[in-house]
Amino acid sequence: MAAPLTQFDVLAIRREFPILQQEVNGKPVAFLDSAASSQKPRAVIDCLEDYYRRYNANVHRGVYKFSEEATFAYERARGKVARFLGAASPRELVFTRNATEAVNLVAHSWGSANLRPGDHILLTLMEHHSNIVPWQMLAARTGAVLDYLSLDGEGRLVLEELDSKLNERTRLVAVTHQSNVLGTINPVQYLAERAHAVDAKLLVDGAQSVPHMPVNVRDLGCDFLVFSGHKMCGPTGIGGLWARRELLEAMPPFLGGGSMIKVVELDHSTYADVPARFEAGTPAIAEAIALGEAVDFLNTVGLEPIRQHERELLGYALERLGELAELTIYGPHDCEQRGAVISFTLQGVHPHDVAAVLDSDGVAVRAGHHCTQPLHRHLAVPATTRASFYIYNTPEEVDRLVAGLAKARKLFA
Ligand SMILES: Cc1ncc(COP(=O)(O)O)c(C=O)c1O
Repeated sequence: MAAPLTQFDVLAIRREFPILQQEVNGKPVAFLDSAASSQKPRAVIDCLEDYYRRYNANVHRGVYKFSEEATFAYERARGKVARFLGAASPRELVFTRNATEAVNLVAHSWGSANLRPGDHILLTLMEHHSNIVPWQMLAARTGAVLDYLSLDGEGRLVLEELDSKLNERTRLVAVTHQSNVLGTINPVQYLAERAHAVDAKLLVDGAQSVPHMPVNVRDLGCDFLVFSGHKMCGPTGIGGLWARRELLEAMPPFLGGGSMIKVVELDHSTYADVPARFEAGTPAIAEAIALGEAVDFLNTVGLEPIRQHERELLGYALERLGELAELTIYGPHDCEQRGAVISFTLQGVHPHDVAAVLDSDGVAVRAGHHCTQPLHRHLAVPATTRASFYIYNTPEEVDRLVAGLAKARKLFA
């Protein structure tokens, strides 16, 4: 990557992202949809190309130079990501396609082995479909029961409900670290303590936290954490599951095939040690290596400075958006309790029309239910418009968002 950034200089950071140098509809692009997928720095793009140009080969199989180099780079990336998350060992880190696949891995492997009819899984009303549907499927297979923590008027968990909703039948609590709609940052450490007090496990959906703030699995005290590479400056097609070693070692395989076995007989097989047991088939090699590069990039900028930058942008955006009458913003008012994701409705204008007007000015936001239909039902709106901020966004882009919303209001008044 380029020279280390010694302090947080957003314009220097922007220059590392080739895609942001473009214009859209005659305007410099203001990319405010990083909660869906972030942009990629030059170092990550170059890393992908370097693999295919210089040492493309399958991992863990060849004794020739390219394969050895690919295997070394793939396993080095695992180590980088494991360290980034504060894991005790790289063996605790399983590469998956994305956060969704990681949740499904836990639901199939740990869930099928550990849940019995009548056991409880506790979720929350703010979960992404990725952290709901796999548990519904597990409940249908096992006879387990789902329950949900509700939300207060500012989109925070109603923690008092833990007293009644956590009990000796609860086997798992699965919660997002940061909501992709409300921005709410949940008290994961507290939830871990409460879950463990009834002998339940805690799964944390880190898809929206890992890219934006320091996340240390040992400090959080969780049992499982899932994340996606494409939201943290890495490529698509790569993400991961972190799990405590003893849990992972006790889990049966999820997918069967090559690379996950020790010995294959005609009628049975024995399985590889973790994490290989959970990485059947040829993995996303280039993507994993480039995710390691993305982690280097984020570490160079620093996760504390990134969080601080986003907190400042969030504060400014909430203040400026507050000037607009007829705008309803969802989520906590206090910037300490939320990340830089702002979902809103503009009275009388459909969220898709809001997004289309903004796009005409080169401002990219997302409109819809953001894969959170139960949450939108709770908010009593079918859809919202969402602006989400990252490492490369500036206060000027917030101003353009606000100007675009005023324009949308006028057009549809
Ligand atoms: C909170 C949250 N969890 C899970 C996911 C799923 O991520 P992926 O589609 O990369 O698996 C997302 C994606 O938007 C998300 O925001």
